[in-house]
Amino acid sequence: MKAAVYESPRTVTVKDVPDAKIEHPCDIIVKITATNICGSDLHMYEGRTSFESGRTLGHENMGQVVEVGSAVSKVQVGEYVVLPFNIACGFCKQCERGLTNYCLTMQPEPALAGAAYGFAEMGPYQGGQAELLRVPYGDFNALRLGEDAAERQTDYVMLADIFPTGYHATEMAHVKPGDQTIVFGAGPVGLMAAYSALLKGAGRVWVADHQPDRLRKAEEIGAIPINTAEQEPAEVVKEATLGLGADNGCECVGYQAHDPSGQEDASLTLNGLIDSVRFTGDLGVVGVFLPEDPGGAEAQGKLEAQGKVPIDFGMMWFKGQHMGTGQAPVKRYNRALRDLIAGDKAKPSFIVSHELGLDEAPAAYEHFDARDEGWTKVVLHPNGHGNGHKQ
Ligand SMILES: NC(=O)c1ccc[n+]([C@@H]2O[C@H](COP(=O)([O-])OP(=O)(O)OC[C@H]3O[C@@H](n4cnc5c(N)ncnc54)[C@H](O)[C@@H]3O)[C@@H](O)[C@H]2O)c1
Ligand SMILES: [Zn+2]
Ligand SMILES: [Zn+2]
Repeated sequence: MKAAVYESPRTVTVKDVPDAKIEHPCDIIVKITATNICGSDLHMYEGRTSFESGRTLGHENMGQVVEVGSAVSKVQVGEYVVLPFNIACGFCKQCERGLTNYCLTMQPEPALAGAAYGFAEMGPYQGGQAELLRVPYGDFNALRLGEDAAERQTDYVMLADIFPTGYHATEMAHVKPGDQTIVFGAGPVGLMAAYSALLKGAGRVWVADHQPDRLRKAEEIGAIPINTAEQEPAEVVKEATLGLGADNGCECVGYQAHDPSGQEDASLTLNGLIDSVRFTGDLGVVGVFLPEDPGGAEAQGKLEAQGKVPIDFGMMWFKGQHMGTGQAPVKRYNRALRDLIAGDKAKPSFIVSHELGLDEAPAAYEHFDARDEGWTKVVLHPNGHGNGHKQ
């Protein structure tokens, strides 16, 4: 089968790899019909993780079941399914508590928890930017889709990661109807967090970034854009709230946060949140931060190389704020969000800028990584249906 394989920093090639196959009686094999490139893939693409060369990328996957293992009893051949990026067993101590994001048995390294497809430090699993994907514990992990699945793939594929992840940011931030919420980052995850806050009935949602095309998407859904090249988010928010600050906020950027000129500083968005959110407000941090960053900050001799991020903890404590962090437990939300899509109450595909064939993955990585104008979200169709530029 063909797959998009990571070779070395900033090089992805599409080549033949061994077909995905059933390795355990609970596995299912999915013919991938839609698979996204994610901001998380870019950390790997840029060589900023331990991701091994020769491994297939892709953790935002949906498709049609083509084979089921002998112990699979719910999922059937022919059904369309979307797969949470988290791979979970369903029976470990963490999964029992609903924390499928930190499953203990699918992560083979005893000191770690949490597994994913085609992801650094999250187990040995291949990614779904390929014609076929092996899904462990198919009955537990696959979310089945309705009859409109094939037709509305660009909506449903967002259930694999970014829609539940954006939603999770708003859950950790405790966004409620009427709240005033600030989101840092207008990438796909930030836009999904803003969209989720608005779906929950937030009164006002600001989105801060320095990419004008992404900020336009935020404006399209009813959020207030803050271009950080021109305005300081905390000032804008305080001015609009009698100096108090937002009720809560979401961090959707991660450790590669930078100023508008491109200078990296992993504390920028966290400190921006602490400053913009009022006393006792909640902060939901879904942007990825890592215990080590040898590919980035070490060269510049910074503490961040060891995962140390200097944040304004004194101010955060003084304000009595709470912070939630980590990978999103996609399974906690994907069923309800699926039903919002099915019921025409949510349309997360508004962020999609490109639908391409798998062969176009190398160029798509290049453009998305450069945050080129108009490349907000790429959906790859490894088994056909790529129809070029969406707009
Ligand atoms: N926790 C999870 O489960 C989870 C899931 C998916 C993605 N993520 C992470 O979420 C983050 C965002 O993902 P994405 O796909 O949207 O990535 P992306 O890289 O496409 O978007 C990030 C955006 O942040 C902006 N940005 C950079 N520095 C900024 C700053 N100082 N202030 C404001 N905006 C700034 C960039 O211009 C860009 O538009 C990544 O770190 C990704 O790995 C986490
Ligand atoms: Zn992702
Ligand atoms: Zn588990």
